[in-house]
Amino acid sequence: MDVSVVILAAGQGSRMKSALPKVLHQLAGKPLAEHVVDTARQFSSDITLVVGHGAEAVKAHFSEQPVRFALQAEQLGTGHAVAQALPELPKTGTVLVLYGDVPLTRQDTLARLCALVDDHTLGLLTVKLDNPTGYGRILRDADGLVQAIVEEKDASDEQKAITEVNSGIMAVPAWALHEWLPRLSNNNAQGEYYLTDLVALAVSENIAVKTAHPDQFEETLGVNNRVQLAQLERWYQGQQAEQLMLAGATLRDPARVDVRGKVTVGPDCDIDINVVFEGDVTLGANVTIGPNCVIRNATLGDGARIEAHTLVDTAVIGREATVGPFARIRPGTKLADSAKVGNFVETKKALIGEGAKVNHLSYVGDARIGAGSNIGAGTITCNYDGVNKFTTEIGEGAFVGSNSTLVAPVTIEDGAFIGAGSVITKTAPKEQLTVGRARQVTVKGWVRPEKG
Ligand code: UD1
Ligand code: CA
Repeated sequence: MDVSVVILAAGQGSRMKSALPKVLHQLAGKPLAEHVVDTARQFSSDITLVVGHGAEAVKAHFSEQPVRFALQAEQLGTGHAVAQALPELPKTGTVLVLYGDVPLTRQDTLARLCALVDDHTLGLLTVKLDNPTGYGRILRDADGLVQAIVEEKDASDEQKAITEVNSGIMAVPAWALHEWLPRLSNNNAQGEYYLTDLVALAVSENIAVKTAHPDQFEETLGVNNRVQLAQLERWYQGQQAEQLMLAGATLRDPARVDVRGKVTVGPDCDIDINVVFEGDVTLGANVTIGPNCVIRNATLGDGARIEAHTLVDTAVIGREATVGPFARIRPGTKLADSAKVGNFVETKKALIGEGAKVNHLSYVGDARIGAGSNIGAGTITCNYDGVNKFTTEIGEGAFVGSNSTLVAPVTIEDGAFIGAGSVITKTAPKEQLTVGRARQVTVKGWVRPEKG
């Protein structure tokens, strides 16, 4: 299928009441227009974004992506918008027109629409709505053939009663777009060049107009204000939750899990309330996630347990490992199988070996902890001298007493034992007790001071 895609994203979106262009507002953690671009990219490498209001911001957002831009300096209607992209468009094949503020149309739906189109057929994505107010209505003749689209503002009362509406999404043979767009007029209620007038033009030139329909009408909903944005977000999240459940995860409340990215789950995961997934997340089998957790760009092995109120960011959590409650796992952390990170512990660029434990109130940054080591409560790796970062190496089976301060670069060898409250600045040798703290003294004959 040879499809070029034009995405209309020049409108102001004034009802958003925002300094940010509407198409950059986020749904599920991603700008509206990026949802559209990502869907389009699945079947076309020829994508043109028509920008106008907030053009610089929209272009900046997509600057790293393989899309072209066409500028619509003045917003004179949807037909005018597509006309701005004409110089970029091939003269053969199909042109699919999408809206940057209609984010959730599925790829299958668009494929069905494009499959209708050939050099003598135009395709429209239409949908029946209980309340069609505001949309263009689809006019059909006695045989059910589409004759035209009439905009709400131009429609008679009889036409307004029609419930089949134009989603706005259409697929047109490229040659026809080149021929017909220059012929549109703005002689209508809004003084705009309507893309929808192509339909009547097609009919007058004996080009067939066929319609396709989405599986769910929400696929064609646009965002005009923040209420609609929130409604569409809820619908999308409902879909994501359903997919997770169908894939074998238990969601304690499907209305209280948000997916802002892509999550894959193994069988029998159990996800409590208020969990937010961001980016790419992979859960193995039997993973448990407690309430109020954020899991971002992470892989969690089979049987891993994330306890309540924990953030896991850009990390790998091994099989049967446990994290939290109240832990902050920062980028570059890797917990081996059965490792434990407990409450009020922060880790960053830390490799924590198999079965190792950092159970309470610690900071472990730029560190490697060998298998089976135990890091006592309140232990801090001092990894930063104000300019550079340094590494702490802890061997296997080491025991670091509570409230120790490990001043990096420093090494704690295998089986080393550190007395509580130590400040460690030099290598702590293998299998020996190292203590780095002032000795406790009791002053004999000391007398409590009295009021003079
Ligand atoms: C349009 C359709 C209507 C359809 C409805 C579906 C026309 C004339 N009407 O109406 O049949 O039911 O969408 O939502 O096409 N845009 C530009 N430049 C412009 C005008 C619009 O880029 O000059 C963009 C907007 O940013 C938006 C999209 O095109 O993404 C649709 O524009 P909008 O003004 O919302 O069209 P509607 O009047 O809703
Ligand atoms: Ca609209």
